[in-house]
Amino acid sequence: MTARRPIIGVFDSGFGGLTVLKALLEVIPDADYAYFGDTARLPYGSKSVDTVARYAVEAAHYLESHGAQLLVIACNTATALALDRITQAAHVPVVGVVEPGAETAAAATKNRKIVVIGTEATISSHAYRKALEMRGLEAREKACPLLVPLVEEGWVEHGVTEQVARIYLGEAFADGFADADVLVLGCTHYPLLKPLLHRVAPSHVNIVDSAESTARTVAGHLQELLPPAGNPKDERRAVARLKFFATDSVEKFRRLGQRFLGHEIADVLHVDLKE
Ligand code: DGL
Repeated sequence: MTARRPIIGVFDSGFGGLTVLKALLEVIPDADYAYFGDTARLPYGSKSVDTVARYAVEAAHYLESHGAQLLVIACNTATALALDRITQAAHVPVVGVVEPGAETAAAATKNRKIVVIGTEATISSHAYRKALEMRGLEAREKACPLLVPLVEEGWVEHGVTEQVARIYLGEAFADGFADADVLVLGCTHYPLLKPLLHRVAPSHVNIVDSAESTARTVAGHLQELLPPAGNPKDERRAVARLKFFATDSVEKFRRLGQRFLGHEIADVLHVDLKE
């Protein structure tokens, strides 16, 4: 007898959310995944709340129609701007990336001062600051809009990216925040810059990756939300089945996506969402 395997829907504006899928696969290898990348409409990081919410709700419904029993909003911008609206519109549980990131930051800080970096829209929403202040922490938020295009260019170890990161982090860890001891990566693309950011950030700083924190949170919820039926031993041995949906070129999704996921991507379907 085969046990029911959960289908986890993962949504992002494009390829970046594959860093969250990568973390999910490490923590929960025995689920099936449907990943939706809204590549035709990215970037979300410079768009308004209404636009991001509308796009994200359409994608959430699409993933539900493909069997998703739990939705992970891997996009920091979509989580920060529209998690409430997505949760209201969805018929299944929804997990965003901001709360797990804030929770891990709270556990990691000693002096209760945190720096968060993200897109323009994420930072302007102050979603991370609110989540951190709720936990009694002081937060400095810094928009780093140049980092997403540099990562998409593949310049993760490039001198230009290092210089840009030095300027951003120099401004963030200043004026009362020089002693902040945690840096939250509040954008799907930044996990690829972790080695570079470790070099550039002050040496006493711990880096918190929202992707990893989110995967651990999803694992915690999963047991409760979707208790496995049948023989769990057989299930644990099974390899995750991955399906990908992209609103722009399938070929580009495969090419760029493998940098974020860390291995080849097959089975990508083009989706044309009607406005
Ligand atoms: N996925 C977005 C985020 O995590 C970054 C890319 C975009 O701006 O669409 O904020």
